[in-house]
Parts: sequence; structure tokens; C-alpha cells
Amino acid sequence: MRTAILGASGLVGRKMLSLLEDCPWLKGDPELLTSPRSAGQEIEFQGRKLTCRAVSAEDFSSLDLALFSAGGDASRTWAPVAKDAGCVVVDNSSAWRMDPQVPLVVPEINGTKLAAKPGVIANPNCSTIQIVMAVAPLDSAVGVKECHVTTLQAVSGAGQKAVQELLDQTGDYPIIKTGASAYPRPMAYNALPAIGAKTENGGFEEETKVLHEMRRIMDRGLDLHISCTATRVPVLTGHSAAIRVVCDVPTTPAEAVKILQNTPGVQVVADPHDYHTAREIAGLNDVFVGRVRQDPGCDRSLLMWVVADNLLKGAAWNAVQIATQIAEQNAVDNQ
Ligand SMILES: NC(=O)c1ccc[n+]([C@@H]2O[C@H](COP(=O)([O-])OP(=O)(O)OC[C@H]3O[C@@H](n4cnc5c(N)ncnc54)[C@H](OP(=O)(O)O)[C@@H]3O)[C@@H](O)[C@H]2O)c1
Repeated sequence: MRTAILGASGLVGRKMLSLLEDCPWLKGDPELLTSPRSAGQEIEFQGRKLTCRAVSAEDFSSLDLALFSAGGDASRTWAPVAKDAGCVVVDNSSAWRMDPQVPLVVPEINGTKLAAKPGVIANPNCSTIQIVMAVAPLDSAVGVKECHVTTLQAVSGAGQKAVQELLDQTGDYPIIKTGASAYPRPMAYNALPAIGAKTENGGFEEETKVLHEMRRIMDRGLDLHISCTATRVPVLTGHSAAIRVVCDVPTTPAEAVKILQNTPGVQVVADPHDYHTAREIAGLNDVFVGRVRQDPGCDRSLLMWVVADNLLKGAAWNAVQIATQIAEQNAVDNQ
């Protein structure tokens, strides 16, 4: 497929580009689209330099697929243009995630939604993806009534300016800016329980995304009780999540481990004292589950620790998996 990345100069866009290096379905070099700010910037692809250029409406008519990772405003502007030009969009922003016409897809969980050949597909929020990868298989196997989560999210989840700001705050001569910041309070050596804008009932946007998106991907309604506290921590890459699930029936940790061992894209350790950390799994595509144990006093309730690379399974890898499934469907249709 002739492919473009919108937001190619960003953290996620660069990961998408490196994943495309190994995609057999890629036709020609990918187009690197950005705002005028990054036009002319060169990025390496398969040992050569490709040049970014400012996106324009004409770009999409010569493309089969566009991976969008340029924020909600750019997605709202360019997704309808691309779709009208016959270019399928996989969008990484939050712009279309709750649109009933746009499927919200984690391929291992609800990849069947792609069979309808949608023109725009939404990639879920980074925390949602890793939580749903661990919880949806339990829901399918034994039923899940409740899911309570605290996330510990890396700064790269907020883009390259946020990464630079943490590096500035922790350098030899720490800089604490007093003006506009990627964070509501200093990030260095801290934990901030506030990601995104304020919402009703004392929440923040990131928490609301997890609630709504999980129910959508798992095809569940308000009967699935979810709560989330989203925190930002001074980790560069890799989100962690402490999760408590209440199942419909008594479920042992050993049963949960077995279910997750049989889930593609999940790696689980059976020892309840064992776990993965963000630093160890950064750069890997899978979702990693550890500390699986019974919630003391409740034989239906399990606790676990779930870690994934927010830039890969939380963003670029999930998008490339979607694109690969589309390419495979097209190949079958053209046989
Ligand atoms: N980081 C994560 O872990 C993560 C996970 C899931 C989803 N996402 C979502 O992915 C998107 C990108 O995130 P990121 O972390 O890669 O951000 P980033 O590092 O700040 O990069 C943003 C990219 O978008 C481009 N861009 C911004 N405004 C644009 C416009 N109006 N037209 C065209 N290009 C524009 C930028 O190009 P210029 O350099 O030209 O400005 C840059 O290439 C966001 O929607 C984010 O919410 C991120």
C-alpha cells in the first residue's frame, strides 16, 4: 500500500516509520507529512534520508493508507479529506475514538471490526490499549464485573516537548519554567495525578478516555463498572498500570495466568512476586503482565501489574497492526 505518516517528525510518527521498514505490504517510500514547522526535516528510513513536507489536500489522492499521529486538530481537518480521496486513515489522536461510525480497534481484541472496511479507524488511548489487552481476555473467559486502575504514565505519552521538559528539569542545571509547561506541576522526582483537562465528577480527561474507550472496545455498557486514576511519573517511556478486576465467578491467579498466556500479544509471568518494569520493556511491542494475585478476602477479585511501551503497543505498533490486517484483507479480496 502507498502510505503516508502525518506527524512523521513526532515521537509516535518516528516509531511508525521505523516499524514500516519491515512491512512487506509497503509500496514505495512512505510520505512524511508534518506541519510547515518541520517541513524540510530529514528522517532516516532503511538507511536513506527521507524529507518531511507540509501536508496538503493533494497528498491523499495518490495514497492507499495514512497513519495519522499529529494531534486531534490535524486529524479533524485531514481525515475527511483523506477519506474522500479514497485513502484509509488509521488515526492515533482522540478526535474520532467515540464516533459511532469509526471503529476503535485493538486487533487482538476486536480486529473483526475491520472486516467492514471502514475509511477511518481509531487507535485507542495508550493506557486503554494495555489495560484492555489484559482485561478483555478475562472478560471473554470468566466475565468481568468491575475494573479499577491506577496508571503510572511515562512523559513520552505527552509528546517530545514533554520529554525535553523533564530532561531540562533533571539535568546538571535544572530548569523549572514558570511559563507554559507540558505539566501542571514540576515533573522531576514527582508524581502528578492529573492528565488532561478537568472533567465532571472530579476527574481528568485521560481517566474518562480509559472508561469510555474500554467499554467501547469490549462491547460493554455501564454494567462494566470501571474507575481510573491516571498519574504521570518521571519515566521516559513505558506506561505501568496497577489493576484490580472483579470477575463474575471465583477465579484463581493460576486460571488468570493461563488465560493471558493464551492471549496473542501478552506476556505474563506466573510468580506473583515477579513483574516487568517500564525500563525493561521499552522498545518491545507486547503487553507485559506480572504480580498476578488474589485480592485478599475476595475469591472473585484479582490484582495485577501491566506494563507496555506507550509509543509502540500504545500507539505506533497498534496502528501498524491495524494497517497490516487491512493489507492482508485487501490481498485476499484481490485473489
Ligand atoms: N506519545 C504517545 O505515547 C501517544 C500514545 C497514543 C496516542 N498519541 C497521540 O499521537 C499524537 C502524536 O503524539 P506524539 O507524542 O508523537 O506528539 P509529538 O511528539 O508532539 O509530535 C507531534 C507531531 O504532529 C505534527 N503536527 C502537529 N500539528 C500538526 C498540524 N496541524 N498539521 C500537521 N502536523 C502536525 C508535528 O509536526 P511539527 O513538528 O511540524 O509540528 C509532529 O510531527 C497525538 O494525537 C497523541 O495524543 C500519543
